[in-house]
Amino acid sequence: MKIAVIVGTTRQGRVTPKLAKWVETKLREKHDDVELLDLAEYDMPLLPEAPWTPNRTLSEGAKQWLEALENADGYMFVTAEYNHGLPAVLKNALDYTNGQLNRKPAGIVSHGVVGGARANEHLRMVLASKIGVAVLPDTVTFHGHVDGSVNDDGSLAEEAEKNNADLDRHIDDLLWYTQALKEAR
Ligand SMILES: Cc1cc2nc3c(=O)[nH]c(=O)nc-3n(C[C@H](O)[C@H](O)[C@H](O)COP(=O)(O)O)c2cc1C
Repeated sequence: MKIAVIVGTTRQGRVTPKLAKWVETKLREKHDDVELLDLAEYDMPLLPEAPWTPNRTLSEGAKQWLEALENADGYMFVTAEYNHGLPAVLKNALDYTNGQLNRKPAGIVSHGVVGGARANEHLRMVLASKIGVAVLPDTVTFHGHVDGSVNDDGSLAEEAEKNNADLDRHIDDLLWYTQALKEAR
């Protein structure tokens, strides 16, 4: 079963990939089949057509994005908080979907001044819409400055280590739900 770690921001100088590296590293300690999906690598314009449009026109990036989502059995979203919500680029990417995430589980790891809590709740609401994701009951709000907290190898600096316990629990939950829902599907 494949777990996709999704990097939810694309701006120049962003730090979310660093946090995603921590998440990916921790996931790989418990599970082999992990793929990092960085939104910055998928060239997707603002949604040009409704997802249910027959034979809709998709950019190559959008096709690859949807295929990558389809191939995954569970997701871990890693996102920043922009103006008390999820980044627009992530919302746009989710608006493209048309069943690829249906009946699959997702965890959320957020960061920001209050751990990205508002973006985290916002994303939970969006994923639980007709997108059809089974969002994990628990969540991870990362406390600390990502830049100073995550080492290059994906481990955490000592003062940020308390976040590890939260992520460990979240990963265990995600793997449990991914297995259960894959079997059920
Ligand atoms: C457009 C914009 C809006 C932001 N709004 C918030 C906010 O509402 N709450 C918050 O805690 N941080 C906010 N921030 C700060 C971001 O959480 C911080 O810059 C973080 O590094 C963003 O992730 P990124 O580096 O991957 O873009 C905002 C940043 C940007 C660029």
